[in-house]
Amino acid sequence: MVAIFAGSFDPLTNGHLDLIARGSRLADRLIVAILRNESKKPLFSVEERADMIHEVIRPWPNVEVDSFDGLLVDFANQRGATMLIRGLRGVSDYEYEREMALMNRRLAPAVDTVFLLADAQHSFVSSKLVKEVFRLGGSIDGLVPESVAARLQRAAGK
Ligand code: PNS
Repeated sequence: MVAIFAGSFDPLTNGHLDLIARGSRLADRLIVAILRNESKKPLFSVEERADMIHEVIRPWPNVEVDSFDGLLVDFANQRGATMLIRGLRGVSDYEYEREMALMNRRLAPAVDTVFLLADAQHSFVSSKLVKEVFRLGGSIDGLVPESVAARLQRAAGK
């Protein structure tokens, strides 16, 4: 069973990492797939994001990193994946995730979306808020892996 955990990962948070750990136990192979979407004006390039993910997935030998553009289900079919993993932080994530899961099912009926809950301590953490808090000088301790925090510092020239 091959599963895909797709996202922007700009940057990877400890919530993402928690989901990678959980997803790696559900699937034989888990592909963390970075969306190539320059219109989102990412802080980190796809290559930098792939590097930062590589640095933290060492504990899970069945996890790999890749990137994609176009439809996620097309990428899933190319890779023989039948499971899409998504995290739900709370009710506010649900409606958007429900629509995406049903659209993906319409496009690829053999591919199922599996929703996972990260640990409650990560339920308020998003890449967007991490970037904002960091930019404004707040502490991001415990919100992202240390290697990601170091990359944020370097990107800010600190
Ligand atoms: O981390 P994100 O930004 O919430 O991830 C969103 C992502 C990458 C999973 C979603 O935007 C996506 O799958 N994009 C690829 C294009 C696609 O397949 N669109 C139709 C989905 S219904």
